Amino acid sequence: MTPRDASAYAHEICGLAPVIPVIVVKDVAHAVPLARALVAGGLPVLEVTLRTPVALDVIRAMAGVEGGVVGAGTLLTPQDVKAAKEAGARFGVSPGITDELLAACEAEALPLLGGVATVSEAMRMLARGYDVCKFFPAEANGGAPALKAFAGPLPQMKFCPTGGVSTKNVADYLALPNVLCVGGSWPADPALLAAGKWDEVERLAAEASKFPR
Ligand code: 3PG
Repeated sequence: MTPRDASAYAHEICGLAPVIPVIVVKDVAHAVPLARALVAGGLPVLEVTLRTPVALDVIRAMAGVEGGVVGAGTLLTPQDVKAAKEAGARFGVSPGITDELLAACEAEALPLLGGVATVSEAMRMLARGYDVCKFFPAEANGGAPALKAFAGPLPQMKFCPTGGVSTKNVADYLALPNVLCVGGSWPADPALLAAGKWDEVERLAAEASKFPR
């Protein structure tokens, strides 16, 4: 998969909803009810972070939920990319970029939202042929004002800011011309998962799905 094709697909999935829930699941039994609640609420794009021992099983389980587009987050190595693809991930997300990681995603045909934090990193991605990436960690790197400043010299690069994005600041990001959508953990709050409060997850998802952009 070429970087251009990966970016075209990333544009598509970022267009499906204003928020991509960033999901950390510890109990595989939570996978299907969580995915169903998020999709029912209007958030079909699901990023399952590879941060728990059951993450790949969670991706496998969520991949069968109708209407969902399940991806793998926290991709760090080519091995992560291979495992995510085998588990059924349809896209990948990484906190940063390395040449090895980009090459692995291109070889495995896994569209990547690669994490960048600086203009230089965004320029590296543009030079390789990508025009969509993740801005991470968004708030710690200057938040919406920083991303607004990126749009001056690099208007062609579009972003999914993630890290510290919440209901309090999401509108500031979504108002920017270079933001396609945001990533955030709040719709899949681990406390709600532990309590099995799927109705509340669906309510948060429905609220998030209506943010204007
Ligand atoms: C993460 O690293 O877990 C994601 O960036 C989500 O961050 P958040 O909890 O600040 O939304």
